[in-house]
Amino acid sequence: MAEQVHVNLPGREYVVEIGEGLLGQAGAYVAPLLRRPRVAVISDETVAGLHLETLRAGLAADGIAMEALLLPPGEATKCWDALTRCVEWLLDQQIERGDVVVAFGGGVIGDLVGFAASVLRRGVRFVQIPTSLLAQVDSSVGGKTGINTRHGKNLVGAFHQPSLVLADTSVLGTLEPRDFLAGYGEVVKYGLLGDAAFFDWLEAQGPALAAGDSAARIEAVRRSVQMKADIVMRDETEQGERALLNLGHTFGHALEAATGYSDRLLHGEGVAIGCALAFELSARMGLCAQEAPSRVRAHLRAMGMKVDLRDIDGELPDAEALLALMGQDKKVVEGQLRFILARAIGDSFVTGEVAKADVLTLLTDALA
Ligand code: GLY
Repeated sequence: MAEQVHVNLPGREYVVEIGEGLLGQAGAYVAPLLRRPRVAVISDETVAGLHLETLRAGLAADGIAMEALLLPPGEATKCWDALTRCVEWLLDQQIERGDVVVAFGGGVIGDLVGFAASVLRRGVRFVQIPTSLLAQVDSSVGGKTGINTRHGKNLVGAFHQPSLVLADTSVLGTLEPRDFLAGYGEVVKYGLLGDAAFFDWLEAQGPALAAGDSAARIEAVRRSVQMKADIVMRDETEQGERALLNLGHTFGHALEAATGYSDRLLHGEGVAIGCALAFELSARMGLCAQEAPSRVRAHLRAMGMKVDLRDIDGELPDAEALLALMGQDKKVVEGQLRFILARAIGDSFVTGEVAKADVLTLLTDALA
């Protein structure tokens, strides 16, 4: 039996199923959503090479046929051209309003395909089958979809909730360790932003989880998704509390932009470094005790993750330039940068009350 998290948004309720071997049972989960036994799956070449036939067999077991479009892996696929390709292919496949599109992959595929589904025929339903840890704990849940433009990440998109999320934790076993740990950055984020007991649990269970412990992985995904679902149910369109989910992202997005969204820094790595910086800033502003950032850093280090700016290969721009990159963040309101800061581990809040000079000093010290 899979674990379940219910996202009870009025009129758009859905379930996140979490467990081992769900790909092979996909048909049983998807069938209740279908008006005809056929789905259009969009994935990337890497994920497809590893898991597409398992998914095909899982759907076929319930008499569901699938067609698949495979896109190149990587962040560059979250672009206008790929969106066009998806939408035109879905129209070629004669996907109708009543059909279901399946996003089968990591965060890039989930965001892109969710956005394609939101605009296709003014909105068709879609199922998220996330295959990275990052996508399982964060991007597949909550309905944020979109693409990047030359102006920055995720600046074009829509809120479009999936009709079902199938998080098969057994596929995490095929991730490169670096990708797994990048996703773990988002798991740590949940403990840091709102659940100190979860952070305690991660400090104890993190190494087992990274080593492949199945029960620990399921529990980490379940607790992360439950926290996300609770926040999304209270604030679906990010009028307030949902911004807490961006802990570490203001710094992280600037670092991703500074490294050209390349392999030098994965999104979850940027989030982890960003969390450490957000806690350091909080301590310097007298909001939390110095032991909080020290504990955050110690855990990230113990997990073998990037913690400091010097852990990023190659040159970085100076503090002024990094601050300028933060200005493109979606969390800018009326020109004012908003930060997620913390009073303690598990107690974060959104604020626009951060002096530019404090951020510049923090970044200058971090770059030294
Ligand atoms: N990843 C942040 C959010 O979904 O709101």
